Amino acid sequence: MRTYSRIIGTGSYLPEKRLTNAELAAELAQQGVETSDDWIVERTGIRARHFAAENQGSSDMATEAARQALTAAGITPDDLDLIIVATSTPDMVFPSVATMVQHKLGTAGCPAFDVQAVCSGFIYALTVADAMIQSGSAKRALVIGAEVFSRILDFTDRTTCVLFGDGAGAVVLEASETTGILATDLHADGKYKDILCVPGHVNRGAILGDPVLKMDGPAVFKLAVGVLEETARACLLKANLTAADIDWLIPHQANIRIMQSTVKKLKMSADKLVVTVDQHGNTSAASIPLALDASVRSGKIKRGDTLMLEGVGGGFTWGAVLLNY
Ligand code: UT7
Repeated sequence: MRTYSRIIGTGSYLPEKRLTNAELAAELAQQGVETSDDWIVERTGIRARHFAAENQGSSDMATEAARQALTAAGITPDDLDLIIVATSTPDMVFPSVATMVQHKLGTAGCPAFDVQAVCSGFIYALTVADAMIQSGSAKRALVIGAEVFSRILDFTDRTTCVLFGDGAGAVVLEASETTGILATDLHADGKYKDILCVPGHVNRGAILGDPVLKMDGPAVFKLAVGVLEETARACLLKANLTAADIDWLIPHQANIRIMQSTVKKLKMSADKLVVTVDQHGNTSAASIPLALDASVRSGKIKRGDTLMLEGVGGGFTWGAVLLNY
């Protein structure tokens, strides 16, 4: 009998501060940076984003999302035997956000670690958790995507600062004989590191290099539309399914045009696309679990639905997870 990793609870957290495009544009204008609601909506589909408070870190938001997911799953933190956090914006260089979340949840003992694959981070983390569950080394895993990209944005660069937001999303996975994750597919190609990166690092007490996000948007756009189709098809092939079997496509929420192009390339109907980028902006590793939780809570996604989750981001990294919810 095959062991599946089944999602038994989801949760999410968005910081209180919400900025519409018009509000962000007005703030940027004060610094001489010109943008507009029209440009942002037309080129990205983004209408608003949330920004964390000064004293809020990824671990705080991750813990809030985790609490919701644990409640939805009907289990306590002590029932967990694995915690993985996907993030590129940890509270500190080390220790990991995952160990901080573990402590904030009031538990100890189980393995806890971070996965860093930028916007593909949640797909990577889910795949690692699934492998550990299938191998028998974990039975109940908490998998979180949490980011404070507002801390690494250059608010004088209009080509990037209007795109990102903060937040966290979480799922609890449980080993089950009932169907759950059906197939996973991961990839990376380090030759693209310069098209999306934060090149700065800590060196002997100082920051060396630029500690803000740099992106060649058009280059990332072009790569993203290609790999998102490829990884979805590879995942479907592994599960012996076709795109017609997918009830909901939840791609990384970066740009509505990339998402619409993916749905079109997969010859799926546009109403199967889950969209939260309009309200959240690009929250990197948090975007997929945020979109998943919003759709579960709104009743859009129901038990038994087949979901294709897929991510793409810095590295370059990309991948997909196909599952029965
Ligand atoms: O999370 C990881 C994955 N990331 C992504 O998937 C992002 C992928 N890339 C994109 O989503 C798009 O490339 C962007 C949204 C970043 C940019 O859209 P684009 O259609 O590729 O625009 P562009 O970079 O070609 O810029 C078009 C114009 C330029 O002006 P000129 O040269 O045509 O006069 C930019 O200077 O838009 C200008 N522009 C802006 N104008 C107003 C760039 N940013 C802004 C802005 N407001 N915020």
